Parts: sequence; C-alpha cells; structure tokens
Amino acid sequence: MATVDEVDADAYGLDLAADRLTGSDASDLERAAEAALRPRRLDEFVGQRVVRDQLSLVLDAAIGRGSSPDHVLLSGPPGLGKTTLAMIIAAELGASLRVTSGPAIQHAGDLAAVLSSLDEGEVLFIDEIHRLARPAEELLYVAMEDFRVDVVVGKGAGASAIPLTLPRFTVVGATTRAGLLPAPLRDRFGFTGHLDFYSSDELERVLTRSAGLLGSALQPQAASELASRSRGTPRIANRLLRRVRDWAEVRGDGSMDLRAARAALEVYEVDDLGLDRLDRAVLRALCTRFAGGPVGLTTLAVTVGEEPETVETVAEPFLVREGLMGRTPRGRVATPAAWAHLGLTPPADGATLFA
Ligand SMILES: Nc1ncnc2c1ncn2[C@@H]1O[C@H](COP(=O)(O)OP(=O)(O)OP(=O)(O)O)[C@@H](O)[C@H]1O
Ligand SMILES: [Mg+2]
Repeated sequence: MATVDEVDADAYGLDLAADRLTGSDASDLERAAEAALRPRRLDEFVGQRVVRDQLSLVLDAAIGRGSSPDHVLLSGPPGLGKTTLAMIIAAELGASLRVTSGPAIQHAGDLAAVLSSLDEGEVLFIDEIHRLARPAEELLYVAMEDFRVDVVVGKGAGASAIPLTLPRFTVVGATTRAGLLPAPLRDRFGFTGHLDFYSSDELERVLTRSAGLLGSALQPQAASELASRSRGTPRIANRLLRRVRDWAEVRGDGSMDLRAARAALEVYEVDDLGLDRLDRAVLRALCTRFAGGPVGLTTLAVTVGEEPETVETVAEPFLVREGLMGRTPRGRVATPAAWAHLGLTPPADGATLFA
C-alpha cells in the first residue's frame, strides 16, 4: 500500500495552486520535506490543545480496555495537521496505518478489497473522505458500524450478497470540507476533531522545533516574524522557514535572523499579514471589480483565474478569520479592514454592506 505522502500527493487531482509560497497545499517535493518535520507522537504535536486533550482521552481509554477506539474524523483547512494526527493516532495505539483517499477509491469494490484485507486493530486513514463515491460511502457506513462488508457474488438476478465479518479497526477520516460529508457518514464517527488556525506563539514553537530538526538555529525575533506571517498554518511556517534558510545561506551570513527573515519574505512577496498573491488578488478583485461585494464565489474565483474550490478552501478561511472578508447569504463581501489593508478607500455607501 502507498505511503501517506504518496497518497497525499495523489489526492489532489487538481494541483491546487502548488506554486504559491503561502498556499496551504503542498507539492510532491514539499511533502517529502514535510515528512521529516512531522511530529511522531501526541506530546510533540504543538497547539490544538482541545483536540489533543480529547484525542488523548479517547486513545488512552481504548488502550486501557485493550480495544480499538471510536472512528475519528479530523476536519480543518489544509496544512493544519490532519495527516500528521492520523499517523500519530496509529503510533500511539501501536497499530499499523493503512492509507487511502476518497479520490483513490473509484468503486465500492476497491474499498471492499481494502476493508477485507485489514487486520485486527489496524488504523485505516481515508484522506479527503468527502470525495468518496456514493456507493463506496454506503459500504463504509456498514463497515464502520457493523464491521461487515457484503461481498456481491454473481450478476443480475442470480447475484447474492455474502456477508463477510471484518476484524475491529479504526477509521481516521480527514477532510478540508466537513460540510460536504453526508450526515449518515459523519454520524459514524465517535469523535470529531476540528483543527483551527494556530496562534503566533504556537507557530513559533513549530518553527523552532523544525529549525532544530533541520540543524539550524532560528533566532527568536526571526521566529516571531515568521510566525506572524504564516497564516496560522504550520505547513506555511515550515515552508517560509526553508526559504529563510535559503536566503541566509545564499545572500546572508548563514544565520537565520530577523534580517534574513524579512528579506526572504520580501523576495517571496509575503505581506505583513502573511497574505500572498492569491489572497491579495481575491481581496483586490472583491474591492475594485465588485465594489466590495456581495459577489458569488464562482464569479470571484473566475475573476482571479482559480478554481472555486481553491478560493474556498485555501484563501477564504484565513481571510474570513482575519476579518478581511465576510460570507453572507448573498455572497462574499470585503470588510473595512480589507480596504484599509489594500490602501483603498471604500465607496461612500459601502457602510450598508456591513450593517
Ligand atoms: N501541531 C503541529 N506541530 C508541529 N508541526 C505540525 C503540526 N501540524 C502540522 N505540522 C507540520 O505541518 C505539515 C503539514 O501538516 P499535515 O500534512 O498533517 O496537514 P494536513 O492537515 O493533512 O493538510 P492537507 O489538508 O493539505 O492534507 C506537517 O508536515 C508538519 O510538519
Ligand atoms: Mg493531509
């Protein structure tokens, strides 16, 4: 079976803006670099205190009982640690991890084959679980609840379903779009952890840890500068760190200090809020082309030349969290902070949009 990082790369049929420095999605090469920086155990996993606490309770209880824990669903924007946590769950349970993804399962039969080859206690990680095909989804409900798959033998009127009992196993599902998961599937997960953006302090810890693993020292001021411009996302923090290291080695004196951090961020056009080209393009289009909105997601995405899904899962969550963009029933709107950030003046009647 494939490794987590191979499947991760496959999961993105559409290569979501992989060239963006602060995009939260990762290219194949980057996933290899990331693998080295992944925390292996729960106590190395920085931040997400609530999810970590809850999860450790679920896992410890299962270990104590000598049984498999409830199925776990992890949701949240790209790059916040869903895959990392899935690997940690298996490691904490001392179980082996099987990896697949929604897009990799084309037919219910593919999933039946994976399920029927599971051993007792194994963890099955299904990345991008919201992209499972409907028949596979239905098979999964039954397997998760009753630990059974019905193997269909024969065709047409003569076909019969032979129930096959499965050993106890744990599904860990990951999704960037929990809202797309049908309720029956969501209900089969005994524990759902929603990962949120990281605070600057937490990202500083991620950065310092990563720098240590890369064998270089990151000065505290540089760590804090990078943390505040990483869009609350460990993947981006690690990516910026590697660019700062490049800058320090090639143009600086080798030390990752504030000067190197600022210079590298400037080269890569990451602004003081951590926004990159796509984020700014989205905000700018919203303000200048649509007078601050409201405008529909698809129209907005077309204007900036991106897939609606990219704008929705990659750019929007952070813009909304930073109070730069609002989502209303009539569409996306720019907030006064967005106009201010772009150095633009909102239209005189714009105030009504935020009432
Ligand atoms: N809590 C954390 N502490 C330290 N490093 C982290 C943490 N969370 C994530 N990382 C780092 O960020 C990288 C990206 O995390 P991960 O691959 O788990 O994200 P993801 O949520 O699965 O993203 P995607 O939705 O794109 O699959 C990891 O390689 C890891 O190095
Ligand atoms: Mg992942």
